[in-house]
Amino acid sequence: MSLLIDRIGELVTNDGPARTRAALVVEDGRVAWVGSQGEAPAADERLDADGKAVVPGFVDSHAHLVFAGDRAAEFAARMGGRPYTGGGIMTTVTATRAAGDDVLRSNTRRLVGEARRQGTTTIEIKSGYGLTTEDEARSLRIAREFSDETTFLGAHVNPGGDDYVGLVTGPMLDAALPYAKWIDVFCDRGAFTGEQARTILAAGVAKGLRPRIHANQLAPGPGVQIAVELKAASADHCTHLSNEDVDALASSETVATLLPGAEFSTRSPFPDARRLLDAGVTVALATDCNPGSSYTSSMPFCIALAVREMGLTPAEALWAATAGGAAALRRGDIGHLRVGDRADLLVLDAPSHLHLAYRPGVPLVEHVLQHGVKQ
Ligand code: NIG
Ligand code: FE
Repeated sequence: MSLLIDRIGELVTNDGPARTRAALVVEDGRVAWVGSQGEAPAADERLDADGKAVVPGFVDSHAHLVFAGDRAAEFAARMGGRPYTGGGIMTTVTATRAAGDDVLRSNTRRLVGEARRQGTTTIEIKSGYGLTTEDEARSLRIAREFSDETTFLGAHVNPGGDDYVGLVTGPMLDAALPYAKWIDVFCDRGAFTGEQARTILAAGVAKGLRPRIHANQLAPGPGVQIAVELKAASADHCTHLSNEDVDALASSETVATLLPGAEFSTRSPFPDARRLLDAGVTVALATDCNPGSSYTSSMPFCIALAVREMGLTPAEALWAATAGGAAALRRGDIGHLRVGDRADLLVLDAPSHLHLAYRPGVPLVEHVLQHGVKQ
């Protein structure tokens, strides 16, 4: 089955400059041809883009979707001046433990659907609101029903009890293994120390998981250096960085994943994405969708914040939300539209990608193709 998308006003492939008056052919779920409008080979079906923009689907490389309840009152209190400390995580842990699988599954399904309608074609999903062996394993089992990019975050906060690190690196890790690809630790003030983060990530790596880390969100700290040292795919948040942190990221393969929804929703200073790009760091943008610090599933919203508040151009922000996210997940098959790549793409109801940041809050994603299939 092949599909010709024709009369594309602007085609962003993340493989050279954007093309105008372009066309693209999808075959068996992959990009089969990219070129000028009117020169495309014949295909079984045709989608007339009518001068609109086509961009790669968004790769949301950081989301916490398996939970119950919400924390709207906590958000309102913050907007009234209360600081964010991460202490509310236990509120969601209590609600999550009390919820049945059906509730967790339908909440996750709702959020994945919401994200997809806004253009997300790949989404990473973390555990981290169970924090018992059984509740972490079931969170990951449910996450795996929706994504292959699943992350064990048993080290989200310490819920108390003797030797929690021993539990996370022992029985809980073993129970998570069948359903997880990645391991993550919240290494920050009030969460886990650098030494604990190293121990936990190393235990996961020894069992075949791949490391990523929540680092330097609430305060400066050792998280980014640990990420680089352990060759983590990504260091996430990166809100408080020293010059040494920036240099370490720049001379590594570790992606800096910025989560502007969290700064928005916790009324915190935004990370300086310009400083990172100018230093040569690979930057990704993701939603951090979770009920506490960033209850948004919208990648276009994050793009708009990155442009307005973090010094990225609209083109850089789009790259970070697509190819950047793919790099943060070490995926070579998504985030670009080169021949052979997965045909995960969006037709925007706009003539150019510039509109994503220019028209915030407007549903500009007209069609979503995932693996070549219209959603
Ligand atoms: O990425 N920083 C740690 N974890 C989440 C927040 C979780 C919550 O507040 O429920 C984050 O922002
Ligand atoms: Fe997070």
